[in-house]
Amino acid sequence: MSTKKILVTPGDGIGPEVSAQAILVLKKIAPRFGLELELSEKPVGGAAYDLTGTPIPDETLEAAKNSDAVLLGAVGGPKWESLDFSVRPERGLLKLRSELELYANLRPAVIYGDLVNASTLKPEVVEGADLMVVRELTGGIYFGEPRGIEIRNGERVGFNTLVYSESEIRRIAKVGFEIAMKRGKKLTSVDKANVLESTELWREVVTEVGKDFPEVELSHMYADNAAMQIIRNPKQFDTMVTTNMFGDILSDAAAMMTGSLGMLPSASIGGNIGMYEPVHGSAPDISGQDKANPLAMILSVGMMLRYSFDLGEADEIIKQAVVETLDTYRTGDVMAEGKTLIGCIEMGEKVLEALEQI
Ligand code: IPM
Ligand code: MG
Repeated sequence: MSTKKILVTPGDGIGPEVSAQAILVLKKIAPRFGLELELSEKPVGGAAYDLTGTPIPDETLEAAKNSDAVLLGAVGGPKWESLDFSVRPERGLLKLRSELELYANLRPAVIYGDLVNASTLKPEVVEGADLMVVRELTGGIYFGEPRGIEIRNGERVGFNTLVYSESEIRRIAKVGFEIAMKRGKKLTSVDKANVLESTELWREVVTEVGKDFPEVELSHMYADNAAMQIIRNPKQFDTMVTTNMFGDILSDAAAMMTGSLGMLPSASIGGNIGMYEPVHGSAPDISGQDKANPLAMILSVGMMLRYSFDLGEADEIIKQAVVETLDTYRTGDVMAEGKTLIGCIEMGEKVLEALEQI
């Protein structure tokens, strides 16, 4: 048996609801792979702010650094939107990402089973699409200095800095190529090199790194075109590598080919400790009503088993259980004719039942 310390930070809104189901799935599958779990829970985001006055208490950060992996639900909500920027729930998440040095964020957008009909895109456009977005996560405009809002010439001015160093680009490019090698060996690097110097350098460095991966077919695309192409013909993509902000935007777009943001898991890696979270937010409109789709969070557990503990097989089993469950049962976000509508808790139970059969 190997013991793994997992920190769970359920966060805000639907975060706690989907986390609860994901933990049940983790507990169910762990013994099959000889994993003993040491689970602990700490607050993050608005929930942490309400308790301690900060969205990321030292205790949570320490616990994260002392764990083998972190599972995060979601952060944010209207309740905290008027707070000072420095203590907004989102700052908690960003601090976790940067303190753990999680510079690579993997967001796989795949169509699970017959969810093809849940997409707003035509079935023939999305059927078989399988795109991995590799998003830079600890740099770019999200973290660049200087930043702020100040008075200039008698009016308020808001400003941020989009900055990327060569080493930051090199390491995320390397992840992009390595992931592409394990997939379809096609990498699209997305930038705005026609306008932004920082991404002109991005393009140059990605091309240089590409020389070490001669088997991977590298192409470059501008971000605006990439947004259009994801909607027009997502099947042209295999692996995409891009900046923090473009990755944020394009992964939401890619999610819609899967029918719902509630289906997209993510893995944040690069440092010693991985963090796993659904791509969706805290969905305050449905929180506390047992309506949330826990599958993105459950699939994030799968990614944790694959990327932190090298248990790709466990990830495959979870994915299979999800596909089989969706055959019959759906939460509201992916509901379709002929399927049975259930809530978050029951969806968790159905996945557990499916796991027992695999
Ligand atoms: C995401 C989210 C976060 C981001 C927010 C909550 C800070 O949108 O993970 O995509 O912008 O990175
Ligand atoms: Mg986002």
